[in-house]
Amino acid sequence: MTMTDNEKKLIQQAEDKVKECESKVESDPHRLTYHLMAPVGLINDPNGWIQWRGTYHMFYQWNPFDTGHGAKFWGHYTSKDLVNWKHEKIALSPSEWYEKNGCYSGSAVDLDGKLTLFYTGNVKDEEGNRESYQCVAQSVDGIHFEKKGPVIAELPEGYTAHFRDPKVWKEQGEWYMVIGAQTKDLKGHALLYRSEDGKSWSFLGPVAGSGVPPLHDFGYMWECPDLFSLEDKKVLIVSPQGLQPEGMHYHNTYQAGYFIGELDLAAPKFHHGAFDELDRGFEFYAPQTTVDEKGRRIMIGWMGVPEQQEDLHPTIENGWIHCLTLPRELKRKGCRLIQVPVDDLEALRSGEVSVEKATVEHQGVTFEGVSGDTLEIEIRDFTNLPAYFEIEFRREARLIYDREARVMTFERKSFANRLTERRQCHLEELRSLRIFLDTSSAELFVNGGEEVFTARYFPGPHEKNIQFSSSEPTSFSLKKWTLGL
Ligand code: FRU
Repeated sequence: MTMTDNEKKLIQQAEDKVKECESKVESDPHRLTYHLMAPVGLINDPNGWIQWRGTYHMFYQWNPFDTGHGAKFWGHYTSKDLVNWKHEKIALSPSEWYEKNGCYSGSAVDLDGKLTLFYTGNVKDEEGNRESYQCVAQSVDGIHFEKKGPVIAELPEGYTAHFRDPKVWKEQGEWYMVIGAQTKDLKGHALLYRSEDGKSWSFLGPVAGSGVPPLHDFGYMWECPDLFSLEDKKVLIVSPQGLQPEGMHYHNTYQAGYFIGELDLAAPKFHHGAFDELDRGFEFYAPQTTVDEKGRRIMIGWMGVPEQQEDLHPTIENGWIHCLTLPRELKRKGCRLIQVPVDDLEALRSGEVSVEKATVEHQGVTFEGVSGDTLEIEIRDFTNLPAYFEIEFRREARLIYDREARVMTFERKSFANRLTERRQCHLEELRSLRIFLDTSSAELFVNGGEEVFTARYFPGPHEKNIQFSSSEPTSFSLKKWTLGL
């Protein structure tokens, strides 16, 4: 396959950068052990998430040269089992005129038997004016991609060049694409396109957006829309920008959440309910879903948020930043989504510690064998749930349930000044917890995934203490595994 000279040059530069910086990056004790990261530099959105011919492919937004954002490449991982991942050759580099400032986010489908990537070519001129092109690249072997150039080169009437992140799917024999967009009066929309052959696309209109009934003002830009069927409903996941904090909601710089409803493809119009955030923690953004060959709707997100303390992450001094979340299976319970870590992750477990009746009668209780930095803890069957229950992770973060107030709180030490910062949600009752800790991440699944807190945290590498506190005596069953390959 033919590569342009510029493509060869950029890929060579990125590979050289990996060689040059890899050992410094790898020496960082905060490097994660069972989460996807970039080998060096910055990772952001998951892209092109698909199981194709039996193999899972996860591409990602990658700036190999720096820990800030820039002209993105598409990095590439493959896996047979969602546990063992192989880092592949770079899939896309920003080599052509229509993508020179970044191969931005997008998705993957099988089109005519080829693994086909739809992504946004980001172009900026000297004055900072932006152009956006929805582009295609195809592969017969799933590794080497041939660029086909833009398939949507014109902005729809009334929209700015903030027009990106195509997510493509097939329905009723036709191809559909949702794109994140901004109107000229600065409202975020999700736009729908249709195509018979996946090559020539026509604009149908906004399916949902800020100012599109039933929504009032709801952000100045919508990024990374993903529209899919879950059981007998449609779900629109989107990352809106510009929501203001409201009670316990919207405290991160930008949010990621979902609407559930019915899609009228002819109108086009998505009749939907209220927006809800997918995650209650600090770092979660731009998730993407796919259906695998077992029929599971699996979501992976970016464990980061744009412009949220990115320059304060301690890992940047070692030349890397951010990671992706664990793969989570999505299920629907009424008008809510439930997130459950995929069963495949059980392969990471070893050294089970099981305490049938773990009793906590005071502050700072520890259990033998229940400590570490890469582990899973499962807690269920509480007797006498106390008014106040807390688990502290490695003296750096805490999960607290206040039974009276019915509030779950996650606290950590801020990257800026080490003062405590918190995120909260309403929680009617606490029934169970599944806790995944990696060296510098926490993913906390509450009540079987009804609520999830995702966050980075940076404890001292030798600090492995996990301790429990409660206002009155309580007991529960507890299991703990060490996680790793
Ligand atoms: C979301 C996002 C996308 C864009 C990509 C660029 O984090 O801003 O809208 O395509 O990142 O890296």
